[in-house]
Order: sequence, then C-alpha cells, then structure tokens
Amino acid sequence: MEFKKSILCIGAGYVGGPTMAVIALKCPEYRIEIVDINAERIRQWNSEDIPIFEPDLYEIIKETRGKNLFFSTEIEKGIKNADIIFVSVNTPTKTFGEGAGMASDLQYWEKTAHEIIANSESDKIIVEKSTLPVRTAEAMERILKANSRGIKFEVISNPEFLAEGSAVKDLLEPDRVLIGAHKTPEGQRAEQELVDLYAHWIPRDKIITTNLWSSELSKLVANAFLAQRISSINAVSALCEKTDADIAEISYAVGSDSRIGPKFLNASVGFGGSCFKKDILNLVYIAKSYGLTEVADYWEIVVKMNEYQKQRFVQQIVKEMFNTVAEKKIALFGFAFKANTGDSRESPAIYVTRKLLEERANVSITDPKALDNARQDLKGIDSRVTYEPDPYKAAEGAYAIAILTEWEQYKTLDFERIFRSMRQPAFIFDGRNILDHKKLYEIGFNVYPIGKTPFTHFD
Ligand code: NAD
Ligand code: UGA
Repeated sequence: MEFKKSILCIGAGYVGGPTMAVIALKCPEYRIEIVDINAERIRQWNSEDIPIFEPDLYEIIKETRGKNLFFSTEIEKGIKNADIIFVSVNTPTKTFGEGAGMASDLQYWEKTAHEIIANSESDKIIVEKSTLPVRTAEAMERILKANSRGIKFEVISNPEFLAEGSAVKDLLEPDRVLIGAHKTPEGQRAEQELVDLYAHWIPRDKIITTNLWSSELSKLVANAFLAQRISSINAVSALCEKTDADIAEISYAVGSDSRIGPKFLNASVGFGGSCFKKDILNLVYIAKSYGLTEVADYWEIVVKMNEYQKQRFVQQIVKEMFNTVAEKKIALFGFAFKANTGDSRESPAIYVTRKLLEERANVSITDPKALDNARQDLKGIDSRVTYEPDPYKAAEGAYAIAILTEWEQYKTLDFERIFRSMRQPAFIFDGRNILDHKKLYEIGFNVYPIGKTPFTHFD
C-alpha cells in the first residue's frame, strides 16, 4: 500500500509503544515505525508477549502490526525515510555531575539529535514526545541547524499525558492534546501537520496549540499539580490519624467543591511511577537555575512529603508490631506503583521492602503483573525475599499483610481463609485504603488504614 506520510518514533517504551499503536490504528494512511536501541524490547514488541502490560494494547498491536505499524532496530534507515520523527526516549534524573539528583539527564535525548542529523537526507518535523526541561527544543534546534547540507528541521513539542494502566483509554479519549510550535510560517506548517494527524480521532477543540516553551513547561507543571494533590491529601492523612478524622470523608467533602474536584485525592502509601518525582525535581532545578529559590522550595516540598508518607508507613508497621519485625514474615500485596500495570519504577513498594529488610523481616511479595520487575529492583538484596504469584500462599504463616498496590482482585480475596493461615495476632496495613476495614476487624485482624482510626483488638 502507498502511504501518505512516514512517521518514525525513536524509543519503544511505555510512551512510544502505546502512542504509536493508537496513531497507527486511527491513521491507516500513515506508515508508523518504532525503533529502539534495545533489540530485546523490539523482539518482544514483535512477539505475542509484548514488553509492557497495558489493558487493550495487545488487541490494537495485533490489528495494526505488519499493516502500518512496524517495530525495528534499524534506526538509521528509519530516520532517512521519515517525514515526521517523534522522539520518545527516556529522560531520567541525572545521577552524576552538575544537577545530579535533580536535573534531567538529556544524554539519550541529545544522542537522537546527532543520529537524526547524521542520517537525514530530507527536511523533517521533529516532535518532542519525551518530557523535557523548558527550552530544550532550543538546544535540539541548535544541534540540528548545525548541518551543512541545507536540510531543514522544525522542532515542535507534543508532550504526552497518558497514565499507565489506562494508556489506551487516555490516548483514545484524551482530555486534551498539546502542541507547541514556533509562530513562524515553518513552525505553523509543522503544527498544522500534527493537528491534522490528531484530528483523525480527537475533536479540534481538544487540540490545544501554544508556543513551544508553554508546551514544554505545561507538561512539567501538570505532573507537579497532580503530585501536589496527592501530597496534600497524604499530609492531611497524618493529621487524621492523630485526630480521629477520616481521610476518605475529608476527600469526599473537600473534593465535592467543584473548584477542587474529586480526582487524585486518594490518600496512599505515597505516589510512585517513573515521572512524578523526576519531573518535579526537574522543575525545582529549573527554578533554581533561574534564581527562583522560593519557587523551587515550594515544589520541592511535594516530593519531601511523599518521602515522609512512605517513611511513616513503614515506621507504623514496625511500631505496631511491638517494635520488632525481625525474623517475622510480612506479606506485601502489590509491587507495581499502581494497579493495572507491571511497572514498578519508583514504586513505594521498593522503599517499603528495603526498610523491612533492614529491620530483618522476611518479606513475601505478591503481584499479578510486577513480580519480574520486583526481582530486578531487589536484585542483590533479596536473600530474605520470596516472590509468590498466589496471594494466599504469600500470606501463609505471615504476621502481617501490607497492601501496596490497589489491585481490584485484592478486594475480593477470602480474608477469613487468609486470617486462619496467618500467625496471630494478625495485622493488615492498608496502604491504599481499598479493603473493608470493619469486616477485617470482625474476622480478627488488627487493621491500620491510612488516615483513619485503626481497628484493633488490643486494649
Ligand atoms: P522507557 O524507558 O519505557 O522508554 C524509552 C526507550 O527509549 C527505551 O526503550 C530506550 O531503549 C529507548 N532509547 C533510549 N535512547 C535511544 C536512542 N538513542 N535510540 C533509540 N532508542 C533509544 O521510557 P517511557 O516511560 O516511555 O518515557 C519516555 C518519555 O516519556 C520520558 O521523557 C517520560 O518522562 C515521558 N512520559 C512517560 C510517561 C509514562 O507513563 N511512562 C507518560 C508521559 C510522558
Ligand atoms: C502520571 C500522570 O497521571 C500522567 O498524566 C502523566 O502523563 C504521567 O504521570 C507521566 O508523565 O509519566 P502515572 O504515573 O502513569 O501518570 O500514573 P498516575 O495515575 O498519575 O499515578 C501516579 C502515582 O500516584 C501512583 O503511584 C498512584 O498510585 C498514585 N496516586 C494517584 C495516589 O496515591 N493517589 C491518587 O489519588 C492518585
């Protein structure tokens, strides 16, 4: 088939894979190729066992792969043939040198710029899909303009707002698509190309166009606002535990104000995921680099509060279990950073496990999708850890269960059976407030939710 345009996506990760699959589904006249330096990942994308778990994604891949969606390691060839190149490589927090622990590590990003320039033979639109510090496009443009062959590159920003676990739904029905471009004729032409692409399935009034820098910065700010809500409610959860107020009632009462809204007000063991922490720290670093100390301090507290919440959770486990968990089996229900994903990047479960191991507990981890990643995360420190797909077996002989991921299936487990198989007195620490606490108490558990009065059988 003759395709209208050729799109290349560099980076076949959690964003590149699902995003391009949905574009391929909705735009059959575009040829979409996704390339990656990780040959194993590409092999998996070409197999029946795709490398990420995302509801409904495999169905779309099956429908489009080999028709107008292709996965490959041939980066040079891909660049040469593409009209539009999305760059969706990882932009983790820098771990070395200036800005270590805060700034974005742009080495993968910059490498793609050099690859693009080395392999291009025609003009191209370059789309920033990765999350990047504001004004990164300027650096990209400088590198790309340094070619002596007269090839023109137009860099535009199109940040991604999908959340893992609901990526396909978020891509099919986004709240908005954001496109940032220069207000020059070339910039506006590139912007229009991207608007036309998304307009295949997204109503025009949901496609927001801005200047480049607003688009880049909006992405960091959106994540900062979302994380800020979680840290706000988690801060209040600590206060609830001291005052017998109930965090769920407060979330409802506060979130019913239409100016505040009900979403993202679930108190938890803390937020995880590959982006919230890194993007806020990046925002903090950017503010600091412009000398805006107060702005930096304001946002940094969101991350500090999250660290506090994770610490609080483990400290409570140790304290309530008579100040010692040494040699005690503790079952962790869930290791993924949220439900419906196998991703465990920055999962609070990593912190909780490490701390329990420091206290010499024996930790049994169960998760329907994230056990392989858990093994990777705990490599070298997991001699006291067992990985158990079956939650009933994970809880057998345990002194306590800690709920760390809000998997739906945990709500309907037979907790009477679980209680009978555990050591007594049995504890449940519900880091996601998903269980029926009163019922668990009646079964015999000592129950410690987040931000609510505990139900215990002790005097
Ligand atoms: P990821 O680590 O899953 O995927 C990135 C991929 O890029 C990897 O497979 C890596 O091998 C590949 N890569 C790196 N350098 C390359 C190069 N030079 N050539 C070819 N491939 C290369 O990362 P991700 O979660 O998909 O995130 C990508 C970007 O999107 C990040 O900037 C992130 O902040 C942003 N983002 C992520 C999410 C999310 O939910 N994960 C959501 C929105 C935005
Ligand atoms: C988040 C944003 O929601 C996306 O819009 C954004 O594109 C993405 O980051 C990104 O840039 O990577 P994601 O991290 O996949 O998506 O998942 P979220 O649903 O935002 O959850 C993040 C963390 O916050 C999870 O650990 C979740 O359990 C926790 N959370 C969420 C709470 O503790 N309470 C809540 O009320 C909501």
